[in-house]
Amino acid sequence: MNSLKTADASRIEQLRRELTHHNYRYYVLDSPEVSDAEYDRLMRELQELEARHPELATEDSPTRRVGGAPAEKFEKVVHRVSMLSLANVFDDEELSDFDERIRRQTGAASVSYVCEPKLDGLAVTLLYQRGRFVQGATRGDGAVGEDVTANLRTIRSLPMELFPEDGVAVPGSLEVRGEVFIRKEDFRRLNEKREQEGEPLFANPRNAAAGSLRQLDSRITASRPLSLFLYECVPGEGVPTFRSHTEKLEYLKSLGLPTNRYARVEGVEGVREQYRQAVEGRHALPFEVDGMVVKVDDEDLRLRLGQISKSPRWAVAYKFPPEEESTVVEDIQVYVGRTGALTPVAHLCPVKVGGVTVSRATLHNEDELRRKDVRRGDTVFIRRAGDVIPEIVKVVESKRPADAQPFVFPAECPVCHAAAVKDEEGAIIRCTGATCPAQLVEKVRHFASRPAMDVDGLGEKLAAQLVETGLVKGFADLYHLTKGRLIELERMGEKSADNLLANIQRSKQTTLPRFLFALGIRHVGEATAKTLAEAFPDVHQLFEANLEEISRVKDVGPTMAQVIHTFFHEPLNRQAIEDLLAAGVTPAAPQVVRTGTFAGKTVVLTGGMGAMSRDQAKEEIERRGGKVSGSVSRKTDLVVAGEEAGSKLKKAQELGIRILDEQAFLQLLQEDAR
Ligand code: IVH
Repeated sequence: MNSLKTADASRIEQLRRELTHHNYRYYVLDSPEVSDAEYDRLMRELQELEARHPELATEDSPTRRVGGAPAEKFEKVVHRVSMLSLANVFDDEELSDFDERIRRQTGAASVSYVCEPKLDGLAVTLLYQRGRFVQGATRGDGAVGEDVTANLRTIRSLPMELFPEDGVAVPGSLEVRGEVFIRKEDFRRLNEKREQEGEPLFANPRNAAAGSLRQLDSRITASRPLSLFLYECVPGEGVPTFRSHTEKLEYLKSLGLPTNRYARVEGVEGVREQYRQAVEGRHALPFEVDGMVVKVDDEDLRLRLGQISKSPRWAVAYKFPPEEESTVVEDIQVYVGRTGALTPVAHLCPVKVGGVTVSRATLHNEDELRRKDVRRGDTVFIRRAGDVIPEIVKVVESKRPADAQPFVFPAECPVCHAAAVKDEEGAIIRCTGATCPAQLVEKVRHFASRPAMDVDGLGEKLAAQLVETGLVKGFADLYHLTKGRLIELERMGEKSADNLLANIQRSKQTTLPRFLFALGIRHVGEATAKTLAEAFPDVHQLFEANLEEISRVKDVGPTMAQVIHTFFHEPLNRQAIEDLLAAGVTPAAPQVVRTGTFAGKTVVLTGGMGAMSRDQAKEEIERRGGKVSGSVSRKTDLVVAGEEAGSKLKKAQELGIRILDEQAFLQLLQEDAR
């Protein structure tokens, strides 16, 4: 018994070390040594071991990166050394002034500078004690920030433990500072997912990063793709004194902390050249930058320069020229999405911004529209945020036409005229029309999309034609389309009609996760569809499931459970599903491969166990695909007999059923976990 526990404890230690190492290879060095599947396997093994030995769980285990229970509010953290901000310079003249002031004050003939990308995110400070990450906080007002430790733990590129190179000692206490941000590609995917799930979109990566880090529920933070770079550190116990900033950055790197690229240059000319290159290369970077930070390299000079008010004299942010243009709002239209969300969009007189022609800009929702007070005929500044979505920065009020009226958000759906109401979360106004054709077009397009039913050739245009002509009033109608009807549609030849019909036929053989995703249930993305399908392998089980059973599914929170429950209890939705099944759609349940000792077996537990309660044992068996029964019969495959087992053990012996003592049972559980 005890030896087993010790074995588990050392395996836990080993797994944590391995996972920490792989995290570092993957997230910091961007050079993984193992496949994702191998990584997942190690993570699962650790999760299972920790579940079995709650007393061995630690706050900084790699498993904690999925987030924990929500906090009531953030605790305040008083910064030991205040967190400064940077003064800005906007042009070459201001840069020269900065350099001149430094040379005048220090008497240096020429100064070495370090140039770093100015990340557009959120400043944080992290404390490592004896090499372990123990606390992290936001900048706040510079003197006092918020304790966001639990959220920071979910950031994969943030090492839970320092990982020093050979010959580098772990400092007793290290406080490092840097920026939490979201990469452009991650931002694009995050918004894409939110769109699919009917959630409001983030306006830009900065907002998404800040909003994600300041979540009281760290599980939400865990689901957001946050990244981190460190760029400063505060003097501390066991931390060397640095002669230069370069030395400091190299030290951080040698401890396994993620640092960004930087350039060390000579004098203001060197800075100018770097800036020129940075402006040119800014769009090629994988993250959003809004300027270049210029820092004096020499630490001695820094000390002599000191700070003024809340900014150091030894650094500035050299801002990039804004990629903004002005144009005129020709119209404002309200679009209806798949989930009925009404989104106002400004139609613009086309203009080039940062090399791309922009003719539309989303206004997100009614609140945003009202806050910016954009009107038809207004002259506005637009900017491309996150290099993806053009947004309206502000209205030039002096150029507003005298007769411009405030935009009135419609009280009804512009397409089906059903009432439009604010949803529970308060930001989105939705069309309530159950048969709204605009929603139907989006639903059909989503239904047919690649990750859903994967009907090649059925895009936005065709979906709109099918709905407008009345050929499709519900999903199932797709499966009753005929060639004769299809070729009557505009731009539909015989060949494309044949292809489309073949693709529709082919989509009938599908999987349950795809099918559930295709239904377009709000909040249910691909991942949730998969876990739902695993928990309810037949769609009819979802008709029967109560709220509690649904919320027990992995990663399904209370809001989501409510939406799913309502969806499957709505008669119209049930009918739509029955129609699809009747039309021949066959969603195959996911194959959960069960090969272990307990898979498909009936187990009886008898007598007392030392290591776990009867309920825990039952849970362990069920997780491995087994069933626990209360009485021994010929159908019983295994009997686990603990201390003082009585009549059940006797019966099992009579029937010749395999009997395990506690030790053997625990051994099997452990083997089966891998
Ligand atoms: S140094 C005293 N370096 O810009 C040092 N800041 O406007 C202050 N920032 O609050 C920070 N990238 O959030 C520094 N490479 C970088 C930075 C950077 C982005 C942010 C940071 C800071 C703000 C100051």
